[in-house]
Amino acid sequence: MDRIPFGPTYTEMLNPETIPPDIRQKALEVKETDELNPLNLFNITWKDEHNSVRKIVLPKELTRTRANIIVLLGKDFPSGSHKVGPAYATLIEGCVDGNILPGEHTILGPSTGNFGIGVAYICRLMGYEAVIIMPDNMSKERYDRIRRYGARLDLTPGTESDVILTLKRTYELKKDPKNRALAQFELMPNYRFHRYVTGNSAIEAVKGIGNGRIACFVSAPGSAGTLAAGDEIKKAFPEAKVVALEPYECSTLATGGRGQHRIEGIGDKMCTLIHNVLNTDFVALIHDEDAVRGLKIIQDGAEALAELGVPPEKTAALKGLFGVSGICNILGAIKMAHYLRLGPGDNVVTVATDGFDRYPSVLKDLERRCLEIETFVLKRWARDIFFNISEEHIYDFRDPEVKELLFRQKEKDWLPFGYTKDYLDSMRNPEFWEEEYAKVKYYDQKIKELREL
Ligand SMILES: Cc1ncc(COP(=O)(O)O)c(C=O)c1O
Repeated sequence: MDRIPFGPTYTEMLNPETIPPDIRQKALEVKETDELNPLNLFNITWKDEHNSVRKIVLPKELTRTRANIIVLLGKDFPSGSHKVGPAYATLIEGCVDGNILPGEHTILGPSTGNFGIGVAYICRLMGYEAVIIMPDNMSKERYDRIRRYGARLDLTPGTESDVILTLKRTYELKKDPKNRALAQFELMPNYRFHRYVTGNSAIEAVKGIGNGRIACFVSAPGSAGTLAAGDEIKKAFPEAKVVALEPYECSTLATGGRGQHRIEGIGDKMCTLIHNVLNTDFVALIHDEDAVRGLKIIQDGAEALAELGVPPEKTAALKGLFGVSGICNILGAIKMAHYLRLGPGDNVVTVATDGFDRYPSVLKDLERRCLEIETFVLKRWARDIFFNISEEHIYDFRDPEVKELLFRQKEKDWLPFGYTKDYLDSMRNPEFWEEEYAKVKYYDQKIKELREL
């Protein structure tokens, strides 16, 4: 077997201070200066150069809830979103298992954007050809980045909610033995990365805030990888509630809904294979237009927010940190803080997968669609969207009978792709997830061994 390109272990991604110091130092240097340097693999982490989790605690003047809303920030991962983590984990596990060989295999990345960008980027760093399969109607910024990283695009018709078409196309392309798919909806490295790296980073992020525990973890699933952090959070804080968010317009988990929507990266019309529904307590719905308008308010609404009592320096600190799904997560976090009646000691954690850099076109489109966006309009929106979030459209999935709906959705989605009922049933046992999670140690060991060859 050819030499496997080097990269970090799961432990090093969680605790970058354990990376050999010379490599860590060089990785930090190239982060700002040389985006395509393979050493950037060692920058796949939630932590900054001081080994602190990149996060922001939202101003209460904006959230109008007594609980602390803490957002983990994904935009400073290499390639601009945390999805590069699962992309790397899936590729390196494939290398370790001997399923993916350099020079021999082309990598397929089915995605609605950020995972595809992550795959294109990782493949560039690790020397693989990549084909990104995604819908043809996503934000322009996404395609530009993928091309910049040198991957080919294979576009399927539609938008976010037509992701199943990308899976079908991948299924076809996989018949060529040269191709290997990094199937984020199906493969467990995505689960392992987020449970281990994101989950433990979230647990660290709340240290010193409120009661230092997590009362609620909120994430809008695309692949549901990020939601796996909830499994680890529940281990540390058994009282924690894990909440999956969906666009109101495409509420597949909550009600079987399957509409088009504007929140790129989430609401993919399925219960993904890697989604551990045992730990999903609630599903809550957010209107897609609220997420888009909320982003407009954060980006351009400093004056409106100041008139509503949010200090300008606090608004300025938020600018650029979120994309549309990040705002959706924030709205969901505030909604749940109200619904769960959380107080000043309580922490709600969520994530911003990426930053604003890939959404200017989305705000341009909003401006085109709206008659006027003056300060008085932004003030009205801010009141409606942030201050007066309703407790409507929250579905309680804790009851085993209700949970059954999620298992059935998963069967509907995955039996057609060749997974057996027995395999899907094995996911009803918590042991299934523990065993998958335990493989982190095995892969860490293997990555280290292969790195030294
Ligand atoms: C912008 C954005 N938000 C949210 C998500 C959902 O994250 P996950 O796939 O971990 O559920 C994605 C996934 O691609 C994304 O690109």
